[in-house]
Order: sequence, then structure tokens, then C-alpha cells
Amino acid sequence: MGKIILTGDRPTGKLHLGHYVGSLRRRVELQNSGEYERVFVMIADAQALTDNADNPEKVRQNIIEVALDYLSCGLDPERTTIFIQSQIPELCELAFYYMNLVTVARLQRNPTVKAEIQLRGFSDANAEEEGPQRQGIPVGFFTYPISQASDITAFRATTVPAGQDQEPMIEQTREIVHKFNAVYGPTLVEPEILLPENAVCMRLPGTDGKAKMSKSLGNCIYLSDSAEELRKKVMGMYTDPDHLRIDDPGKVEGNTVFTYLDAFCCPEHFAKYLPDYQSLDELKAHYRRGGLGDVKVKKFLIAILNETLEPIRERRAYFEEHISDVYEMLRAGSESARKVAAQTLHDVRNAMRINYFDDKELIEAQARHYSDHA
Ligand code: TRP
Repeated sequence: MGKIILTGDRPTGKLHLGHYVGSLRRRVELQNSGEYERVFVMIADAQALTDNADNPEKVRQNIIEVALDYLSCGLDPERTTIFIQSQIPELCELAFYYMNLVTVARLQRNPTVKAEIQLRGFSDANAEEEGPQRQGIPVGFFTYPISQASDITAFRATTVPAGQDQEPMIEQTREIVHKFNAVYGPTLVEPEILLPENAVCMRLPGTDGKAKMSKSLGNCIYLSDSAEELRKKVMGMYTDPDHLRIDDPGKVEGNTVFTYLDAFCCPEHFAKYLPDYQSLDELKAHYRRGGLGDVKVKKFLIAILNETLEPIRERRAYFEEHISDVYEMLRAGSESARKVAAQTLHDVRNAMRINYFDDKELIEAQARHYSDHA
């Protein structure tokens, strides 16, 4: 059997360079590799609502942003089925059955759920008091790992390209699959996570040098940023705070500009934009020694990022002129995805033997039982 990819994003904002190096760039490569029977990319609006119940408008407005980002990066609806989670009601039904296979304690141990509870300031699951500052955990939020297991298994995904933060989700999915197949017979496919290739791609820092690009920290470079916005953001980027004069020796570790170069720079870029150097190692060595100014390195980074982003901006501009076609693409993608999910749900119902009306044996046996007693 061929390999199948399923992955996705919550539509809570535009996608940024962190998404690009961490997942989007890879997805396009995987799509084009020809190694996968099917590739599904899902806009996880229902999951986004699990902690944005009071702000459905944010989710609603960002679906098109994420779709535009996908298309501009080169996801091709001819080869990748792009769809919207909430348009596949079969996913809810699968989740409802999987809920019986997972304990509350197991969900409480899920490290990603734990971290998110902290991050969102939800009160402890067992807390009695839910004051105005400390809100309780919504059940839908608490159980979203189960819903994510439905997303993955509905499409019989073998492969889930995702960041390290998603590892607990995939692990939880594998447990559900294992349990389901053990109880009801082999039905579901156990997926594997496909992590980013290297450490830089795992977690691109924000422009302020903080651990991660995040909308709430305001340290993102968006794929939809103009060349001018990009220039300003890179010029204001965190470097080595002790590198005050050009002649001072500088640190490249923890220096955001160099971290970005690690993620984006390739040898050809030197001949094109900075011919005085042959390689990133040579550039780093000069910076460490002293005598290389931040502005020069930043200008080099701007040129490289623009080379990456320019074709993305061009495609985005095109699709921004064709919004109703993008919605039509999402509709068609959702319809096509739904067929696959419906088949899986059908198999799940059969395995669980809750397909009463198709179950001739059940009906006949019960009919016999009652006629024998007549
Ligand atoms: N949890 C993922 C995120 O926050 C989004 C997501 C939902 C997802 N369902 C998925 C990712 C299934 C991979 C597979 O980014």
C-alpha cells in the first residue's frame, strides 16, 4: 500500500517564516517527490475553535489567509488535497468513538496539552475554583488530541509531517489505533511523524531572538510581508548585544541573523550577493574575529530572504485577485477529502458492529430467536 500524508495548521493567523522552514517548504517537496499516493493538507478550523470559542470570527477570517499562504508556497491543488476540517463531519463521529478508548488520566499526561494549559492560563483540571482570571479547561480543548487522531486516521495517513511539539499527538494517535485494532480487529493505520530535518528548522527564533516566532510576541516575519516590511524587520533584528563596534569580536551563537542564515543560506548565495566570502563558515569566522558589521550581514540576509519570498509574494498577489476561485478549490478539496473520511467511518462502524441495518446476520438471528419462542 502507498504512503499517505496528512498534516495541517490552525487558522489563527497568517503563516510566517517559522512555518515556512518548519513545515511548508518540506510539504511542497513531499508533494513533488511523487513518493506519496496522496497528500492531504487540512485547515484545522475546528481545532482552532477549541480554544477560541469566543472568537470564531478570527478563525473564519484566517481560513483564506492560510489557504493563500499554502498556494503561494507552491502547494498545488492538483497534487495536494487542501480542505477545511469543519466541513468533514465524519471526523466528529470518529472522535466520539475514539473517546471511549482514552482515559482522562492519559489526556492529562499529554505533554502538549499540559504545556498549552499552562500557556493559556487555564486553571488546573481538578481545581474547584474558576475565578474570573482562571478559566476552566473547555472539554473540547482537553480532548483535541482525540479529535486529531480522527483527522489522521480518517485519511489512513501513514506519515504526518509536523514539528516536535506534535509528537505527543502522534503518539496518542498510535495508542488509539492500537487499541481500536486490538478491540475491533485490524481497521486503522498507525501513523508515523516526519520531523523537520535539522535543529534550525525545528524552531526558528523570532526577530527579537526569543525562542519562537509567535504572533503574540510580535516577532514574526510573515510570508505576506512586503519587501519593505521585511527590510525593516531584518534591520531591527536581535544580534550580539556585545558587538558594539564593527571591530569588536562578535558571537554567532544565539545571534538571530546567523540562525536565519543557517536556515536559508546556501553556497550559491555568496557568489550572487556577497562575493567577498565563499561560505557561511568563512563569514562566521570573520564576524567572530571582529571587523564585520551587522548591517552588512543583515543586508546579505535580506537579499536571501527576498529571493525566497519574491516568488511566494508573486503567487500570493495572483491568488489575492482570485479569492472566489480559492474558495472553490477549498470546497472541491473538502468534498474529495470527505469521500475518504466517509469510507473510513464506514469501515469503523463495520468493525464496531454498529452497522445494524447492513447486518443481515444480526437481524436474521434475532428474528429466529423470537419466532422460536412464538
Ligand atoms: N495540532 C496542529 C497544530 O496546532 C494542527 C493539526 C490538527 C494537525 N490536526 C492535525 C497537524 C493532524 C497534523 C495532523 O499545528
